[in-house]
Amino acid sequence: MGRHSLPIVVAIDGPAGSGKSTVSKAVAQKLEYAFLDTGAAYRALAWLMLEEKVDTGNVDDVLVAARRDFRYSIGTNPHGYFVKVGETDVTDVIRRPEVTAAVAPIARIPEVRAHLSELFRTIARQTDRPGIVVEGRDITTVVAPDAEVRILLTADEQVRMTRRSAEIPTESAQKVADALRTRDQADSRVVDFMSAADGVTTVDSTHLDFEQTVDAVIDVITTRTARNSHND
Ligand code: DC
Repeated sequence: MGRHSLPIVVAIDGPAGSGKSTVSKAVAQKLEYAFLDTGAAYRALAWLMLEEKVDTGNVDDVLVAARRDFRYSIGTNPHGYFVKVGETDVTDVIRRPEVTAAVAPIARIPEVRAHLSELFRTIARQTDRPGIVVEGRDITTVVAPDAEVRILLTADEQVRMTRRSAEIPTESAQKVADALRTRDQADSRVVDFMSAADGVTTVDSTHLDFEQTVDAVIDVITTRTARNSHND
């Protein structure tokens, strides 16, 4: 079997508000690749803990509830995205601020990270499309360090805050900025997603609009995959 019968994995890391999610999805749509939003699994797990009133600060309780009830599924078709826990569709509810606020202590648990990372690798392997864009905080370094294409998507903090604030018009810009900063700080204690690891290409979207960012990412993918196939 040639190596190209395996899907091309495009790993994309980046901080909150860098546009990772929307950019990754648009890239997948354009290339007809699959798309895996890994943050959704951490969010869905946090949602489950809130739903079951589990104390997220108690690691043992979180692990017991997760092992018992976390039956997770996610749509990897970039045109048909959904997130489910058991039979419950949680696609929208996991975006709520209370869920976002509950993620950090859960994402810090090594057993949770190991389990979800393995789940992401399995999902990536099983795609029936020629490639899959996998986005998150630790994809280029932990989940898929061998990915054919690895990208760190960044933007200046001020720009990320403005973009995030535009997405959440119901909250004040100050509140959104504070939440984003707090989350970046909490998350960066777990994984360093602000600097590019060896072999990772940085795409800085500070001065790019959405379409330009999508095109910049596609350029990296095209260059990388062309180079790799020449080396076969
Ligand atoms: O990308 P997002 O905002 O949906 O991610 C939700 C949370 O999950 C975020 O606080 C960081 C965490 N996360 C993580 O620790 N590792 C990942 N691969 C993806 C998300």
